[in-house]
Amino acid sequence: MCALTCLNPIAIALNLLLLVIAPLSGVHHPTIHDIITTQDIIAGDVFFEITEPAVLEYTYRLRPAKDFGVSFVSQRFTGIGLVLTQPSDACSKIRNYRELRGNVALIKRGDCSFLTKTINAEIAGAKAAIMTEFDDDSAEFEYYIEMVHDNTSREAHIPAGFLLGKNGVIIRSTLMSLRRPHAIINIPVNLTFVPPAQINHPPWLGW
Ligand SMILES: *[C@@H]1O[C@H](CO)[C@@H](O)[C@H](O)[C@H]1NC(C)=O
Ligand SMILES: *[C@@H]1O[C@H](CO)[C@@H](O)[C@H](O)[C@H]1NC(C)=O
Repeated sequence: MCALTCLNPIAIALNLLLLVIAPLSGVHHPTIHDIITTQDIIAGDVFFEITEPAVLEYTYRLRPAKDFGVSFVSQRFTGIGLVLTQPSDACSKIRNYRELRGNVALIKRGDCSFLTKTINAEIAGAKAAIMTEFDDDSAEFEYYIEMVHDNTSREAHIPAGFLLGKNGVIIRSTLMSLRRPHAIINIPVNLTFVPPAQINHPPWLGW
């Protein structure tokens, strides 16, 4: 009766132990960089890099929307603007559509669905929508939020992705303190052939 359930924790512990030992006991004594490939790190995520302003010049990870919008890999944008929307939550018509048109929207999460935000960005002429958290007191500040369709009969035709709040706060506060209307980005960047140690991730993150 108890055999299975009682053994489970032991079996799990043994499996974990084997996972740790097996790679280390190989003849090549692989380093950590051989074990963890860039593919493992990417795992369906998309990356973009900021090229200006210089203080934000890093590679950032996005978690693409699960079931709405289009794929980020369908079109690559080089030297495109990343623009903070007004209002910041993009839950109503975007007022700074002149700045946003042809660029990528940076939008605060909350107050309406991710799909509504994406559609409002699309209507304003944005090429893609990036959602993030601007509140460093938020419980979700350090987590990726899964963006799903809101089950209305609407659809977005631009890509949407979630950026870690830790990045969002720093990008927004840096742009505001430099009084810059936007950052310049390349999106997506293909890291498939970049070794993990060479990925230029923000120093304030561990990944
Ligand atoms: C949309 O519908 C699916 C399937 O019924 C459900 O699992 C999901 O929670 C709904 N999503 C929202 C945002 O209401
Ligand atoms: C990156 O390049 C590889 C190889 O050319 C390709 O298979 C992959 O789809 C590309 N990924 C992105 C995100 O463009």
